[in-house]
Amino acid sequence: MAMMCRSFLPFVLISLFISFCFAEIRFVQIHSDARPIIPFDEFRFTHTGRLELNVSQIDLSNKNPDLDLSRVGFFLCTRDMWMYVLQQLTEGDVMCTLDSRLVTLVYDFKSLNGKSNFDTVFPVNNAERYTLLFANCLDQVNVSMTVRSTMYNLEGKQNRRDYLSADETILPSVYFLSSLVYFTLAGVWIYILYKSRHTVSRIHFLMLVLVILNALNLVSEAEYKSCIKRTGSAHGRDVLFYIFNFLKGITLPVLMVSIGTGWSQLKPYLQDKVNKILMIVIPLQVAANIARVILVEIPPFVSYRFAWKMGFAVVDIICYFLVSLPISWSIECEAAQTDGNTAVNLMKLTLLRQYYLVVILYAFLTRALVLPVVTIESYENEHPWTGVLVEELVTVAFYAFTGYKFMPEARNMYSVIDDEAKDVAEPLKLEDDEGKKW
Ligand SMILES: *[C@@H]1O[C@H](CO)[C@@H](O)[C@H](O)[C@H]1NC(C)=O
Ligand SMILES: *[C@@H]1O[C@H](CO)[C@@H](O)[C@H](O)[C@H]1NC(C)=O
Repeated sequence: MAMMCRSFLPFVLISLFISFCFAEIRFVQIHSDARPIIPFDEFRFTHTGRLELNVSQIDLSNKNPDLDLSRVGFFLCTRDMWMYVLQQLTEGDVMCTLDSRLVTLVYDFKSLNGKSNFDTVFPVNNAERYTLLFANCLDQVNVSMTVRSTMYNLEGKQNRRDYLSADETILPSVYFLSSLVYFTLAGVWIYILYKSRHTVSRIHFLMLVLVILNALNLVSEAEYKSCIKRTGSAHGRDVLFYIFNFLKGITLPVLMVSIGTGWSQLKPYLQDKVNKILMIVIPLQVAANIARVILVEIPPFVSYRFAWKMGFAVVDIICYFLVSLPISWSIECEAAQTDGNTAVNLMKLTLLRQYYLVVILYAFLTRALVLPVVTIESYENEHPWTGVLVEELVTVAFYAFTGYKFMPEARNMYSVIDDEAKDVAEPLKLEDDEGKKW
């Protein structure tokens, strides 16, 4: 157990010492570090994997030439094996991690022969997910060095380098195909809007904007990942990705609230509350999206990665809770009005209730369900793309439902209300209300 703590402590400490570049090629500087184990990065190799290590400015705090430098070095280990290694260490079967036969030694400092830097390419032929770690089994010796680690798999006959881990390498395609689905949805929606251009309202255009933003966001995400895949870094490519992510994050809650309250006759004080909620939700969504983007770029083993993850998930869930409030107020308002009950009121009520349920379901499926999924690291490691796929499928289903139920057509509330208003000569002034809001 003590050994466990000792090995987890570094995970906490590492953020203090680490500086990294936003890419799969990692660049880490270590300053006078006494930790026995330093984790660097994780990667799933194929049978033609390579680990490239360029380490420079190596400096040990103890210059004694009698030090056994074979007890300091880099090694690879799978997560499963790591558990056994920890067990071996606690039971005293091995004194130093590097002695264990369960780890794959990459380079020990004995091979340095007095030099202060080394470059090496280490072939990995096991299709496994490995962690690159550094072990220092010497007492009272601190290590300083600059580490550049690159892990990639060789693909095809030309041995092209693929810098994405074997389980992530299809992500660009998944993102790209998903974006095609959204572009198709946008096309269908434009057709519907054109066909019923006389009953179209602002909300319908907002829906179109949202779908297009989603598509563009996925294209930028595909571009971002494929850039990393080809070159190992994505400098400059990430800007579009941030922008679309950001816009999408703001549009969705605004749209949800607008649909939920847009054609309901909210009392002015309620309308006020709705606006206040939007003023809270929008900055929260901005924050959640920034956290999400940063999360993408935090390498594994950085202590605050987990905190960011939880932070993002919690803020996001709070947002959807807040968004659901105005919809439920709308339902109450409508329910209060149904005593004079027209069929339209009842229909509105039913539709609102359905929408409310679907919003909750959507939030639950994409957020709450994803939350345990992302927090269980091993799941994320095994199938990083399944999470993406599930989220996109649920989102497409949600958009399709919303689009279908709130289509600008005869079945649509806005037009029904307009007819009703004419019949009963009761000024519902829906379009006006909406106009004010925008
Ligand atoms: C080694 O590191 C530890 C903790 O990081 C520090 O307390 C100690 O002074 C360092 N020793 C040397 C010789 O730099
Ligand atoms: C890192 O080391 C490899 C293997 O020696 C070498 O091919 C590569 O050019 C080095 N990279 C840098 C940036 O020094």
